[in-house]
Amino acid sequence: MNASDRDSLPRFLDIATEAALTAGAVLQAHWGDLDFIEEKGRAGDLVTAADKASEKAVLEVLQRHLSDHDILAEESGNIGNADSRYLWAIDPLDGTTNFAHQFPFSAVSIGLLIDGEPAVGAIYDPYRRELFRGATGLGATCDRRPIQVSKTSQLRKSLLVTGFAYDRRETDDNNYAEFCHFTHLTQGVRRTGSASLDLAYVACGRFDGYWERGLSPWDIAAGIVLVREAGGTVTAYDGSPLDVNSGRILATNGPLHEHISQELMRVSPLQNVGESVPSMKNG
Ligand code: IPD
Ligand code: CA
Ligand code: CA
Repeated sequence: MNASDRDSLPRFLDIATEAALTAGAVLQAHWGDLDFIEEKGRAGDLVTAADKASEKAVLEVLQRHLSDHDILAEESGNIGNADSRYLWAIDPLDGTTNFAHQFPFSAVSIGLLIDGEPAVGAIYDPYRRELFRGATGLGATCDRRPIQVSKTSQLRKSLLVTGFAYDRRETDDNNYAEFCHFTHLTQGVRRTGSASLDLAYVACGRFDGYWERGLSPWDIAAGIVLVREAGGTVTAYDGSPLDVNSGRILATNGPLHEHISQELMRVSPLQNVGESVPSMKNG
């Protein structure tokens, strides 16, 4: 990131915020609107009218302000200027399964990568009306108040969070063994169904750590900025530098990072169990 990028961060953060709040209002308006629900490919990977309407709202804001930037949006794919150093990674509704079951835990997640590095993040939970924001060097906030990661330094006193990707029935690398392993070692492991809020909650100290595999850049770009700016650590499972395209992430409060990383590296996958859930298309 160069000096001119750094000067632009407050403006980029304001634009990300405008997009997140605008799309959040769309999600509020669509609450309970379950007429259109489709599977995108894998069993359980849903898309609703709300995902599409929210994404349209985000794109309208970004394209109005920054028409020369690149965009990776979950429902529209790669659009925008592929030559740009600025890539916006957008999840218009992170927590679609929750939304489709009227479980009010989901968010709009808007991240900006500069030269591939997460630099700006805005995550808005329209059901709790909580806005998480952050940018490199500018700190992280929840509802405009500074936030910090927790200070927990013992695994047995920690609360962790994780998730399971839509390919979980097709691979033994499905995170089931890791979930059991950490459930034994900690005060608990939660599965909320919204990766971006999992990261925002690590940033504000509600969780002490988060790991997951099978993710896309739009799930994590914004949250990575929040955790780092709140004083936490974000890497690959083995502690090496994170590649946002690898699908795997370990984000913690810092004191627990090495311990969780070591335990993650020790777990061997469980064999797949039980029958697969049939796709909605097959009845
Ligand atoms: C999903 C959620 C979930 C995570 C999945 C994601 P979506 O995103 O973030 O917590 O476990 O891997 O795909 O489909 O609700 O946008
Ligand atoms: Ca997502
Ligand atoms: Ca989504």
